[in-house]
Amino acid sequence: MNESTFTPGGGQPGIPVGSVAVRTFANNAAANQPMTTAHTMKMMDGLHVNATAGNESGRESTHFAAYDEVPEGHFYDPDAEYEPDPEYAATLAPDAARQRRERIGPTGRPLPYFPIPGPLTDHGPAKIIAMCNQKGGVGKTTSTINLGAALAEYGRRVLLVDFDPQGALSVGLGVNPMELDLTVYNLLMERGMSADEVLLKTAVPNMDLLPSNIDLSAAEVQLVSEVARESTLQRALKPLMNDYDYIVIDCQPSLGLLTVNALTAAHKVIVPLECEFFALRGVALLTETIEKVQERLNPELELDGILATMYDSRTVHSREVLARVVEAFDDHVYHTVIGRTVRFPETTVAGEPITTYASNSVGAAAYRQLAREVLARCHAE
Ligand SMILES: Nc1ncnc2c1ncn2[C@@H]1O[C@H](COP(=O)(O)OP(=O)(O)O)[C@@H](O)[C@H]1O
Ligand SMILES: [Mg+2]
Repeated sequence: MNESTFTPGGGQPGIPVGSVAVRTFANNAAANQPMTTAHTMKMMDGLHVNATAGNESGRESTHFAAYDEVPEGHFYDPDAEYEPDPEYAATLAPDAARQRRERIGPTGRPLPYFPIPGPLTDHGPAKIIAMCNQKGGVGKTTSTINLGAALAEYGRRVLLVDFDPQGALSVGLGVNPMELDLTVYNLLMERGMSADEVLLKTAVPNMDLLPSNIDLSAAEVQLVSEVARESTLQRALKPLMNDYDYIVIDCQPSLGLLTVNALTAAHKVIVPLECEFFALRGVALLTETIEKVQERLNPELELDGILATMYDSRTVHSREVLARVVEAFDDHVYHTVIGRTVRFPETTVAGEPITTYASNSVGAAAYRQLAREVLARCHAE
């Protein structure tokens, strides 16, 4: 297999970034040289390229970011591409070559370039992101794990909070929720309980987990009689704020008290939407809830973005739904779109993020691009 690992020129060395489509990126003067001299990476949308071309000793290496910035002496040959997962790539861009020429992303808007984030020297205070949609099965848990893992790969310290009594986030990271003595439930309900006692390290460096299991369903009822019940999670997370750069909360599929707690603790909300006919149903209720929390409990809260998931551009239906979502939410829709692939359910069984389970897959690249887009939005503030 003609796969290669790309180490971002501007990023941290040693972090394998999936090479989705490795294509010939040859230097005219050395057209017969083996391809080891050029590593390229193309994101799943086929629109942006980060490439380091140079000789093997690393001298004269050039770093360029987009197709139209290809230096003289190099040429780009779209026909020479190699797709490790062509079927999935086609779900995102049926005519990748045309999209690349026109630089239009899957949402129909021009696709900006999201730079590879540089390393951090110190960490915190954390930005808290709530992954929220009261509909089940839209990709909240999948997005929490993989966005978290991609941010961690970029050197960010990440804490994931499983805030769904079903414990799917914990399972997705290889934890058996039934065997846990202490969970996020204890952190919420028992005064004096410290987060360190509940925290679990995940197999992903830089990424920790506050796990949960069915115990958490009792909290929903027990919290009702608490003083300042909506800010219980916020109080529990406070001592951890300086240890992390990002805290991502995987919400349960309801707009009950647990979700309101997540929204009260959060700075930003990400709403995953499955590209399906009923995707927009219920979103009005969700935005209303977000607005109420903003007004009454957490004025800092904002909708960071709508994330289209399980997109399949080969179907007219998926394209239409995405167009409707963009029409309704405009710039709130992330440029990054997550395609539908069986690789995601597989990762749940494997108990690890797609960024490690299938590091070179288009799905892993999609979540890396999402991480860069989220970071770019945070830095734009
Ligand atoms: N992009 C995708 N393509 C295919 N299947 C996906 C994708 N994202 C998630 N899934 C699968 O869909 C199911 C629901 O996703 P999940 O992330 O658990 O949703 P939620 O947390 O909103 O209920 C899971 O089995 C998951 O593996
Ligand atoms: Mg879930």
